Amino acid sequence: MTEREQWGTRAGFILAAIGSAVGLGNIWRFPYVAYENGGGAFFLPYLFALLTAGIPLLIMEFTLGQKYRGSAPLTYARLNKKAEWIGWWQVAISFVISTFYAVIIAWAIAYTFFSIRLSWGNNPEQFLQESYLQISNPGEFGSLVPNVLIPLVIIWVVTLLIMFKGIKRGIELANRICLPILLIMFLTLVIRALTLEGAALGLESFFNPDWEKMKDPSVWIAAYGHIFFSLSVGFAIMITYSSYLPKKSDINNNAFITGFSNSSFELLAGIGVFAALGFMATQAGVSVDEVANAGITLAFVVFPEIINSFPGFNGFFGVLFFGSLVMAGITSLISIIETYIAGIQDKFKVSRTKAVIFGGGLSALVSLLYATQGGLFLLDTVDYFVNQFGIAVAGLVSVIVVAWFLKKLPDLQKHTNSMSDFKIGIWWRICLGVVTPVILGYMMIQNFILNFRNNYAEYPLSFLLSAGWAVALGVLVVGILFSLKKWKKDPQKSLDEGG
Ligand code: PHE
Ligand code: NA
Repeated sequence: MTEREQWGTRAGFILAAIGSAVGLGNIWRFPYVAYENGGGAFFLPYLFALLTAGIPLLIMEFTLGQKYRGSAPLTYARLNKKAEWIGWWQVAISFVISTFYAVIIAWAIAYTFFSIRLSWGNNPEQFLQESYLQISNPGEFGSLVPNVLIPLVIIWVVTLLIMFKGIKRGIELANRICLPILLIMFLTLVIRALTLEGAALGLESFFNPDWEKMKDPSVWIAAYGHIFFSLSVGFAIMITYSSYLPKKSDINNNAFITGFSNSSFELLAGIGVFAALGFMATQAGVSVDEVANAGITLAFVVFPEIINSFPGFNGFFGVLFFGSLVMAGITSLISIIETYIAGIQDKFKVSRTKAVIFGGGLSALVSLLYATQGGLFLLDTVDYFVNQFGIAVAGLVSVIVVAWFLKKLPDLQKHTNSMSDFKIGIWWRICLGVVTPVILGYMMIQNFILNFRNNYAEYPLSFLLSAGWAVALGVLVVGILFSLKKWKKDPQKSLDEGG
């Protein structure tokens, strides 16, 4: 058996982990989630979730991958044969996410070009829905939309080429190129936004804490949900990436660097976006609340509006914004695809090329569904259900199984401490074994109740059953089915042989 591929350098691994974490979530998701959940009051729950769940889980996943040296399914199989299904479940979730994540990047590519001539005109919302996406009704697919299809094909070609090249010459190199570009483009944009008239007004509303809201459990739920999504934990990604680490590597430091880099970027995005919203509110003579409450369309509706009213170089700043989304998105997309490439390679003993063709090819095909006129509703629903009832539930299950059923936390702690400069203590086991299961478990139950009572986004129930619940349940079933197939070679033995 050939040696498992490895990162070229330590920095290569950290860059890739940061590249995965920093994504669309930081730029369009965090600002509106923070704002909706009490602005400044969101930071406390956010920090709490980061320190008690996000980083501890990141350390757990890094340690698992580095110690057991396999894709998520192989890692869980080596941990315990009965736990393999968790790995496949996470891989199946990642597969589903990759199908629509690619589509959002495709929109961003299109919007990068639209920026040049401000093609969205005076009514970006109408432009998005009617001219660009040509949306129909939930559950109706209509025909393929060429303006989505073309950038989608481009993004798949680029991404799959990166995947063919492998860890060092593909993923590591792509991150080395995309991340510096992202940082420069985004910093330029944020600095410009901060110097706009009215910026202070926007920041004030972003940082102004609404303390009443902190008593609301849903704020805490949102903080946990966002931390999981934002750090890419619970998706098999960090396990997969750390399986390519050398046999001796510092884990604890890497986890903290990744976690804090991601949060810094998120804060930066929040500051930039709200400074710009403050500017827009000032221009329109309304309060920031009126322009900020835009939910997931913030990036593709409110931003074009902001760009329209920029005092100069409008097209340039539009390119910076949507270009940032593309750069941040690509490095996250490749991390999520690598989970199933690695899983297929490990279990079916096929070459990387074959795994990319089958896994990536299938994902590309499925993603065409979102390039149809019904794509927006489908994407919105799948995104919501896979996040709430996929990632979060799978993350919770993995913690409970590792901590309580397999009782592996002391082992893992010893392993990571033996290699890391700074040591993690008992707090790590308490966070993972007690705090996270209790709070996340409570969040889960609340969330199920909420969704049984109210139809998400008031979509028809039949649509939610097929595009939402069936997908969330389907990833679990697919995960279990994959774990039933026998390994060609005993996973336990191949670890001892150093495979
Ligand atoms: N962490 C990424 C972000 O903040 C989201 C992501 C999710 C990336 C799933 C890869 C996979 O956008
Ligand atoms: Na993130």
